[in-house]
Amino acid sequence: MTQRALELASFGIGQVSPSPLVGCVIVSESGEIVGEGTYLYKNITHAEVIALNQAGAKAKGGTAYVSLEPHSHHGRTPPCTEALINAGIKRVVCPIEDPNPLVSGKGFDVLRQNGIEVLTGILKEEAEKQNEKFIHWHKVGRPFVHLKMAMSLDGRIATRTGDSQWITNEKSRQKVQDLRYEYDAILIGSNTAFVDNPSLTDRSNKPRNKKLTRIVLDNSLRMNINSKLVLTAKETPTWVFTDSDDEEKINQLKDEGVEVIQIAEGGRNLQGILHELTKREVQSVLVEGGAEVAGSFYDANLIDKISFFYGSVVIGGKDAPTAIGGKGSKMLNSATKLRDLTITKHDDDIELNGYPYAT
Ligand SMILES: NC(=O)c1ccc[n+]([C@@H]2O[C@H](COP(=O)([O-])OP(=O)(O)OC[C@H]3O[C@@H](n4cnc5c(N)ncnc54)[C@H](OP(=O)(O)O)[C@@H]3O)[C@@H](O)[C@H]2O)c1
Repeated sequence: MTQRALELASFGIGQVSPSPLVGCVIVSESGEIVGEGTYLYKNITHAEVIALNQAGAKAKGGTAYVSLEPHSHHGRTPPCTEALINAGIKRVVCPIEDPNPLVSGKGFDVLRQNGIEVLTGILKEEAEKQNEKFIHWHKVGRPFVHLKMAMSLDGRIATRTGDSQWITNEKSRQKVQDLRYEYDAILIGSNTAFVDNPSLTDRSNKPRNKKLTRIVLDNSLRMNINSKLVLTAKETPTWVFTDSDDEEKINQLKDEGVEVIQIAEGGRNLQGILHELTKREVQSVLVEGGAEVAGSFYDANLIDKISFFYGSVVIGGKDAPTAIGGKGSKMLNSATKLRDLTITKHDDDIELNGYPYAT
């Protein structure tokens, strides 16, 4: 049943930030599923309450399977612990605590104090992975940074002449749209904005509760006024981080709806950028290149997850750019390793996901 609670929670992907994904199943005393709920930010009502409302009187004496610890404080809604207690639930099965300090451990305590049996730890890893962005945001205090790069089998992101579209196939590119759907923001460097003229939109065609924010690191303010990003900035949030004080260009960009954020060292100040994004409740960022920007995040040890999409092509050439620029690791024993690797094929393309860790 915890698996089902996690599945219900997953129906909220793209529709809960800055809240967590939560799903709930109510099983009656006789073992029948009597209520199910998924939390969606716009609907306000929490998964537990949706499921309890469905269950009605049948919840009494039953078990609630919840994918994340129920909250015990007054937030946008009254405490879910109160709803579970009032419904006469006898047992709560829940894999993990909520990392939000307002909730953490307190929800379980309140339930136990009210005579409810609380069972934790089942499918813990799956539950943590499902809410990895939310958990990271609360525990580390900055957005979850996911680097995604598309490259040839020999690690090139473009040919020596800069030809880069497309290295990967349509299925891989569709998968990238699904990735964008899960993120609050996409971030690129000014060269990519200039050379590729991307639109950086979420074309997954799935509902989202917040618009995807597009971020460009651009200290020289090279953003083209006629680029797709600028021309659509009034509909889709577009932020430029810079240390430039070129008033004329800043005003041109602002007139088109671009938000120009001036900070010391501009795009080079990754900690400052992440701090600013944290203040703006951006919980997760998909870094989509290019090589220089990927290298800066790598060198600063600020990558939490990596996705490499390999097209079935070899490009070669010492002047063809590779995926991660910057300084890179000095010695092999200090190079970044990846844990929890997953490999998926999209026809002849290969998608590799992993989590960097230091040894
Ligand atoms: N295959 C892929 O997945 C993929 C993805 C993206 C791009 N690309 C390709 O990669 C090429 C562009 O990549 P690139 O490496 O030349 O450029 P890039 O990483 O897109 O942009 C680099 C520029 O961004 C600005 N910048 C601001 N803050 C920065 C920071 N913290 N770190 C690094 N740069 C920062 C700098 O210019 P200022 O000093 O002027 O601000 C810098 O020159 C294009 O050919 C594009 O098609 C491929």
